[in-house]
Order: sequence, then C-alpha cells, then structure tokens
Amino acid sequence: MIRRATSADADAIAQIWGQRETLGPDKKEHIAEIRGMVGRIAEPFGFWVSEGEGRVQGWVLLFPFRASPAVRSSMAEVSIFVDERRRGLGVGSELVSHAIERAKAAKIEYVLAWVGASNQRVRRLITSLGASISAEFPSRPINPRRDKVLLYRWAL
Ligand SMILES: CC(C)(COP(=O)(O)OP(=O)(O)OC[C@H]1O[C@@H](n2cnc3c(N)ncnc32)[C@H](O)[C@@H]1OP(=O)(O)O)[C@@H](O)C(=O)NCCC(=O)NCCS
Repeated sequence: MIRRATSADADAIAQIWGQRETLGPDKKEHIAEIRGMVGRIAEPFGFWVSEGEGRVQGWVLLFPFRASPAVRSSMAEVSIFVDERRRGLGVGSELVSHAIERAKAAKIEYVLAWVGASNQRVRRLITSLGASISAEFPSRPINPRRDKVLLYRWAL
C-alpha cells in the first residue's frame, strides 16, 4: 500500500536512507535533511511510503528541482529508496510509478533523477518506466566510487 508519509514515518524513512553506503562522512547531516523533508514537502510535490507487513518498506520523494519561481512548479526531482530486505519485490517500481502519475496529475512537465552510472538496478527500473538520460557528469566528491553521474529525465 502506498500512502503519503507523515512525521511518524520519519524514523523508518531515515533508517532506510541510512542503509545507503555512499552517504560518506556527512551521513548524519543527510539523515537530518531527509527527516526535515517529511514535514516540509507540499503540493504539487510529495513524500510517499510503501507499507508492507505493517511497516515502511520503501519511500519516494518528489521535490522541486530548482527553487526559482520560473521553473519551480514545472520541474521536479525524484528520489527512491527501498529497504534492502524488501528489494526485488516490485516495491521500487510501484513507488516510482506512483510519483510519476502524481507529477502528471499536478501538470509537472519534467521529472529528473540523479543516478550513479554503476547503479544498474535503478537505471533499468526508471528506463522501463519511461525515463531517458539527459546529461552526464564525470563524478561527484560524495561518491567514494567516483562513479559517473547520470541525470535522467521524464518528459511528461
Ligand atoms: C533501486 C531500488 C529503488 C529498486 O527497488 P526494488 O523495490 O528492488 O525494485 P523492483 O523490485 O521494483 O525492481 C527490481 C528488480 O526486481 C524485479 N521484480 C519486480 N517485482 C518482482 C517480483 N514480484 N518478483 C521477482 N522479481 C521482481 C524487477 O523486474 C527488477 O529486476 P531487474 O533489476 O533485473 O530489472 C532499490 O534497489 C534501492 O533502494 N536501491 C538503493 C537506493 C538507490 O540506489 N536509489 C536510487 C537513487 S535515486
């Protein structure tokens, strides 16, 4: 079941986010940031969780890509995380589809996603849901693997 995240989900969301290996030395700061987003995100954007067996098993966040009023309501960024114990069950695909449907309904024109080039799993997932690569960056300091970073785009 997918539902809107509430502040009561902040611990579970942060716990899943904390499973990420690439958060680096600023891990605490990243976790605090994601917690803060739960209460802050407002329409047309959103924070949703997938619940299974009575607990949060993954989440998707649709948030403004840029703060500028010129593009704020037409461009969004999406971020997706599934509990490592619940992967490969379709949870991620369901969450991303939900966010894209909500973006379409809100008349958002573009949804973007940053993805490490070696993250084949998420690349397959979002490509199968209609995203394509729109830009490529050599690396980013936060990523210890110094992976190339790809910017994917849905044109809705
Ligand atoms: C990437 C990620 C979100 C995918 O979530 P997920 O819930 O495992 O995704 P799904 O289950 O929908 O799809 C994953 C695979 O399982 C398969 N699958 C889906 N439902 C299935 C089912 N019922 N039975 C068997 N396999 C299934 C899919 O076909 C897909 O296969 P593929 O990888 O060979 O293409 C998850 O691995 C994750 O959180 N990764 C770490 C965070 C991350 O990298 N986030 C992206 C940065 S924005």
